Amino acid sequence: MRSDERAGEPRPDSFVLGISAYYHDSAAALVRNGEIIAAAQEERFSRKKHDPRFPAHAINYCLGEAFIDPAELSAVVFYDHPIHTIDRVFKNALSVAPSGRDQFVAACETLFGNKAEIQTDLMNLLGEVPRLLLTPHHMAHAASCFYPSPFERAAILTIDGVGEWSTCSLGFGSEDGIELIEEIRYPHSLGLLYSAFTYFCGFKVNSGEYKLMGLAPYGEPKYAQLIRDELVDIKADGSFRLNTQAFGFLESPLMTNYRFEAIFGGPPRQSEGRITRREVDLAASVQQVTEEIVLKLVARATNEAGSRNLTMAGGVGLNCVANGRVLRESGLEGFFIQPAAGDAGGAIGAALMVSHEMLRVPRRANAAGDSLKGSLLGPAYAPSEVDDFVDRLEVPSEDVPCAAERAKVIAGALADGKIVGLFSGRMEFGPRALGSRSILGDPRCRDMQSRMNLKIKYREGFRPFAPAVLAELAADYFEIDGESPYMLLTAPVVASRRLSARDGVEGDADDLLAIVRKVRSEIPAVTHVDYSARVQTVGAEANPEFRRVLEAFYAQTGCPVLINTSFNVRGEPIVCSPRDAYRCFMNTDIDLLVLEDRLLWKVAQPEGAKEEGVLEYELD
Ligand SMILES: [Fe+2]
Repeated sequence: MRSDERAGEPRPDSFVLGISAYYHDSAAALVRNGEIIAAAQEERFSRKKHDPRFPAHAINYCLGEAFIDPAELSAVVFYDHPIHTIDRVFKNALSVAPSGRDQFVAACETLFGNKAEIQTDLMNLLGEVPRLLLTPHHMAHAASCFYPSPFERAAILTIDGVGEWSTCSLGFGSEDGIELIEEIRYPHSLGLLYSAFTYFCGFKVNSGEYKLMGLAPYGEPKYAQLIRDELVDIKADGSFRLNTQAFGFLESPLMTNYRFEAIFGGPPRQSEGRITRREVDLAASVQQVTEEIVLKLVARATNEAGSRNLTMAGGVGLNCVANGRVLRESGLEGFFIQPAAGDAGGAIGAALMVSHEMLRVPRRANAAGDSLKGSLLGPAYAPSEVDDFVDRLEVPSEDVPCAAERAKVIAGALADGKIVGLFSGRMEFGPRALGSRSILGDPRCRDMQSRMNLKIKYREGFRPFAPAVLAELAADYFEIDGESPYMLLTAPVVASRRLSARDGVEGDADDLLAIVRKVRSEIPAVTHVDYSARVQTVGAEANPEFRRVLEAFYAQTGCPVLINTSFNVRGEPIVCSPRDAYRCFMNTDIDLLVLEDRLLWKVAQPEGAKEEGVLEYELD
């Protein structure tokens, strides 16, 4: 027994701050006595997408959310071990020398310029830091999915591009903590294989992977066998080796090289260039290979752990199509994916790791649900703060404090074909908007997909939107067994809601837009060309305001489904503050902005108010 407990005094709270930074998607997370209090990505505050810098704003937010001073922190934990990364960079440089000089210099600048400065950055921001700890990168990913999961015991699978030496790790979690038992090491990386095709198809690495996934259903996997023959040797147990001769990333900033081009018939597609049949078929092919590897790794991880519960993290955990297949085909009893599966989530994992395994805070798994609070871990704005903001703007608005009445008005607008920006409660942590910083639309509208793509998101029209559905009615629309609260799974639209047979891509792929505009189901705006949908099931607990809007829309229309896309334009991080939301509203064709209790209609806004925000973001 501790001395303070003997004296009858309460045990002091233990606060642990987790930090992920200097690579991409910097973030901070704060854990109090094993409970996640706050988490946010730096990009939301700095307004620079995938901001890799030291997350000063996010750290300040986390400490402010808990009303604590830095001196009250028990520990600060960084999600990565730079020494091991330095070891990899040096050994990689030796293995490719004399090539790769520029790549080596760039890596050293990052490592010795930034990562070596975490102590300095922390000192500058917080003053004296109690103690700075490091966790291995994949241990942070593993902790980010196992500890918040609802399982007492579970298999753990983490897959990403690379963290230190590791690109994939398998292990298990239990009351004794986490043990990682196997790993696949750099340069053999499923994440880097997928990123190589992302690059080759003309999308941005570490950002455009989800576009490649969205492109895949248009294509035929006609290159899949070529990928297996020439690029990746897949073993029966899911382990694999890349043919590194065909990739550029070992010795250059480019992901592929001339050998890769020779295999796939020419140079990479230029960014913003025309998408051709080759790209859609390459997307379908690498997607198929990825799913094959993930399914094999899942089987191996669950077998070795002796558990039918699986928890997953790492950037590849955001591949919703692979996840959907895991759910349908792997015979799991339970499946939990960390919604911030990429490196941002490492901040949560690092903090939980130290909290449970070093500070010995007991973990209490709750079979009824995970401990992520719907991933609504970011800042909220009180109605009074919103009032102050709107009043300062001096623009017309309606104050509708009655939640039921507000939901009715919003649902009515949606049913009328209007597009709504919903800003409510705490901001989501992770890449998906889940109803707190969301743009909503009616999925039944035939032209809604192209309207929202072109006039709201300013992006390519080939990608589908995601549906949010009342959880208890999800099976009426989608072939899904169980819940998908974090929009991390795709599921087919049920046959009874479909309208026509599957369309392939015939001839040139110039007609992607024509294909995607074809009405395939009762909810065409969220139905992809292969009838899949990236589903978010919305239960009664996590987000009451969003749930009320869905219920009201269902009551008015008989449809329990809405389009839910993130509240931002292309290249912009998801909005964080009322000001961000108003700027996005005024620079797009969003018809109605809901800022907590305040409703702002576009038609009522004065012309000059557009000056409030000219959005300029680089293309993603
Ligand atoms: Fe990672």
